Amino acid sequence: MEWDFYNACRQALNDGDPALALRGLRDGHRPDSPIWSPLACLEAECLAALGRKTEAVRLLGDTAARDPGNHWLFYNLATLHRDLGQPDKALEAMRRVHACLGWHESPDNGYVFTHDYFSANIPAWTDWFARLILAEPIDCLEIGSWQGSSATWLLDKIVGPRGGSLTCIDTFQGSSEHAAWLGGIGATLEELFDRNVAATGQAHLCRKLVGRSQDWLRRLAEERFDFIYIDGAHEAKYVIQDALLCWPLLHPGGFMLFDDTHFEFAGRPEQNASTAIAAFRSWFGEEMDALTPPAERQLLVRKRPGFD
Ligand SMILES: C[S@@+](CC[C@H](N)C(=O)[O-])C[C@H]1O[C@@H](n2cnc3c(N)ncnc32)[C@H](O)[C@@H]1O
Repeated sequence: MEWDFYNACRQALNDGDPALALRGLRDGHRPDSPIWSPLACLEAECLAALGRKTEAVRLLGDTAARDPGNHWLFYNLATLHRDLGQPDKALEAMRRVHACLGWHESPDNGYVFTHDYFSANIPAWTDWFARLILAEPIDCLEIGSWQGSSATWLLDKIVGPRGGSLTCIDTFQGSSEHAAWLGGIGATLEELFDRNVAATGQAHLCRKLVGRSQDWLRRLAEERFDFIYIDGAHEAKYVIQDALLCWPLLHPGGFMLFDDTHFEFAGRPEQNASTAIAAFRSWFGEEMDALTPPAERQLLVRKRPGFD
């Protein structure tokens, strides 16, 4: 019932009418709603879409005071502060996101992320690494490291405690979707990555390889990994190369994770990530088990034992 109300207002916003969505939210407002934090996030989105970002910050701040464990409130706050040119407040809110999700090392070690593509994954990753991905020591390979969010989480939560290694490949030039704004973040991606990895205290477990994954992977042919995360360029022509070059590097029984499986390129549908992933899955289907439902943004597969 409450979610029906939420979805109707969300639909109005998605249809490009934030004023209508806001009116609906305010007319139907119930202070005792069991989903008042999601409703407040939606109301803040409407306010932001109407250019009333300061009001949106106030609303989320008040709501967070009543619901301090809700990471979405802080995530939305971080985005708003960033849009308002308040990087210190954005960073503080982002660290609160991580603390809410059990990643206390982020505030404790003072990581600096201007844009966080990782925190939404934390609940699923925490579950997978507790239940499925159990290698110890564990050797991990990451394609696409950005400012080091996924890398520092892996070092803090998995590789540090279990032992093993983390290899990170990145051009540190950003992907095509970042090109318009990357120059304005005040530091290079590589500087932020280095700073954050050093702050984990586990930098000795991390190897950084700067350059295109499609080039580096050919040079890693003799290595094997327990977990490979493919989160670099999302164009199908790159995703397919990463998948084909990574598959032989994965131990039998090892895990490979694709990010942004539904990433779409306007006007270039042949480059949508899903086309590469569908081809890879159909060709290698007999060698793998898929462990996540098709609608999920991330696809986790396990290489069947016996396939080297
Ligand atoms: C979405 S970000 C990765 C986010 C990161 N995994 C995290 O969770 O914080 C994608 C990254 O891929 C990198 N990238 C894009 N094309 C690449 C390529 N061909 N080879 C290696 N890295 C690439 C970009 O520089 C960018 O840092």
